[in-house]
Amino acid sequence: MDLYEHQARELFEEYGILVPRAEVADSAKEARASAARLGGRVVVKAQVKTGGRGKAGGVKFARDPAAAELTARQILGMDIKGHTVHSVMLAQPVDIDSEFYVSYVLDRSQGRFLAIASAEGGMDIEEVAATRPEAVVRMAIDPFEGVPHKKAAGIAAAAGLPASAADTLTALWSVLIREDALLVEVNPLVRTAQGQILALDGKVTLDDNASFRQTRWGAQGPADRHEADELEAAAAAKGLNYVKLDGEVGVIGNGAGLVMSTLDVVAGCGARPANFLDIGGGASAQIMADGLSVILSDPSVTAVFVNVFGGITACDAVADGIVRALESVRLTKPLVVRLDGNNAARGRAILDERAHPLVEQATTMDGAARRAAELAHAA
Ligand SMILES: Nc1ncnc2c1ncn2[C@@H]1O[C@H](COP(=O)(O)OP(=O)(O)O)[C@@H](O)[C@H]1O
Ligand SMILES: [Mg+2]
Repeated sequence: MDLYEHQARELFEEYGILVPRAEVADSAKEARASAARLGGRVVVKAQVKTGGRGKAGGVKFARDPAAAELTARQILGMDIKGHTVHSVMLAQPVDIDSEFYVSYVLDRSQGRFLAIASAEGGMDIEEVAATRPEAVVRMAIDPFEGVPHKKAAGIAAAAGLPASAADTLTALWSVLIREDALLVEVNPLVRTAQGQILALDGKVTLDDNASFRQTRWGAQGPADRHEADELEAAAAAKGLNYVKLDGEVGVIGNGAGLVMSTLDVVAGCGARPANFLDIGGGASAQIMADGLSVILSDPSVTAVFVNVFGGITACDAVADGIVRALESVRLTKPLVVRLDGNNAARGRAILDERAHPLVEQATTMDGAARRAAELAHAA
């Protein structure tokens, strides 16, 4: 789970990292009152869980509380990369001398963490990394050794950050470890004209596997529901193992491994999977109907691929499930079904007999994926 900037800021502050004074507001009127409490001149910052807010017009200076109200009115409701702005953070402006980039991220392939740092932080770090990779320093971190002061000083020196940034690097490491984060990123970390090191923006991604012991952000309520994909919420309410993806081919399969390879095969056919959905071993009519209704309600889906390998749950039972699901769900998009394995012939016969005009069968996984991709693109 990603935290909002203001939540990351709150954590940083607790760990002794300097941050600008700030308040959160979800209306323009509140923004005005916050600005007044913060001394008048403020930065108004969209609170959405995506980066690049500055470039999208979601970070703006306001010279007094009246201007903060106006600016907040502009930013609230704005769409930034598909995220609607429901609240803003008002922060005291900082007199920036230079902007740096620092992050810690889990490097799964190495079984370690990686410190990434650059003296050229700010809004264009991706561009710096792409065009001048030598300006971005990466150092492996042994999770058991962590980032004691000496290591932090080494990272700062290698990246060309001021030596005084070392304490911040050590404190950030504590945030990562004690909060069970997979990523902690500060961009920009700044040196002020007065020589102080401050975190002006923060991104923290928590490890969901540790949420049982990190209960603090668990009950976020409505603030978090804004961001949660509505489809995922609907699927979760039905107990489905569903993850929304960006494509146009809806995918249903039995077994996580099969579904993962289905996503690959769909991608291999030049289409993009719209979701991951594992209906597991049961594949009852109810689960099939629930899964179909979630997938069909995704406006980006233009075709659906049901990929089943019958094992303990035989294909005829799955076919029965599909036929009964079609009684309660109105099929509005083409459905390609591939049944293989235990009782595949009987399963296919059941679907042939039902002869739904939008349901097609294919005998192989590759063939079915190609057909689904074709139908998705034709739509
Ligand atoms: N409190 C602040 N005082 C001064 N400048 C700020 C402040 N917060 C952000 N900025 C400036 O705005 C830029 C973009 O803000 P940031 O919070 O990093 O948003 P994003 O990374 O989403 O664009 C920063 O690089 C910094 O130059
Ligand atoms: Mg930033």
